[in-house]
Amino acid sequence: MAVPSPIVAGNWKMNGLKQSFEQIDAVSSFLSSKTKPTCRVLICPPFTLLNQFASLASDDLAIGAQDCHFNASGAHTGDISADMIADTGATFVIVGHSERRADHGESNELVSGKAVAAQSAGLNAIICIGETEDERDAGDTLSIVIGQLEGSVPASANASNTVVAYEPVWGIGTGRTPTIGDVATVHAAIRSALIKRFGEQGSTVPILYGGSVKPSNADELMHVENVDGALVGGASLKATDFDGIIDAYRK
Ligand code: PGA
Repeated sequence: MAVPSPIVAGNWKMNGLKQSFEQIDAVSSFLSSKTKPTCRVLICPPFTLLNQFASLASDDLAIGAQDCHFNASGAHTGDISADMIADTGATFVIVGHSERRADHGESNELVSGKAVAAQSAGLNAIICIGETEDERDAGDTLSIVIGQLEGSVPASANASNTVVAYEPVWGIGTGRTPTIGDVATVHAAIRSALIKRFGEQGSTVPILYGGSVKPSNADELMHVENVDGALVGGASLKATDFDGIIDAYRK
């Protein structure tokens, strides 16, 4: 049976200037000089660096964006379409990150529309889901996460155009992570929901864990069943830390 192909993805968020080129250069040289990891490696810089970074994309390193509009083109001042992202040579786009859901009021329906736009442009959509601390405390984690999955993952999803990222909101940038058992429970529930909806395809959609992944916890987290990689924020900004996470896939 086919298995999901793991991905370690760096989400630079609103960080990075021209000088950050040094970091991606360092990531590239780790990838070419060290043992080849068994995961794909992806960096998602801010839009201002996308074109430049996409020119460095290789078999070892993919480049992606952090958001796209749901329309292919038109009168949407300040927005970027999935076609524009694909035009740079980038191959992935994150949609529905919790910071966008919170800061920009993005609904599941909107996120699903963005994922469809991404897939239509030939991009791989990384669709983010995750519960807040209050939702977790109320015991609603699984119903929230599965509800977001059902609402945000479009019918057009398959294993080659979609990645799901489970990121508990309370674990993002806080240094706090769920227990290994909790990660396993949520990822198993996401896997079952994907299989229920998409059949065999659902068993090979990668499910990333995100939220305070760092070199010291990556190995343990990446070996949890149904965890097929990581979406990394803070620790992706420094090449040595990011590489330390990739190390989880070098054994
Ligand atoms: P973090 O962010 O690794 O800094 O917690 C993860 C994310 O938001 O994708």
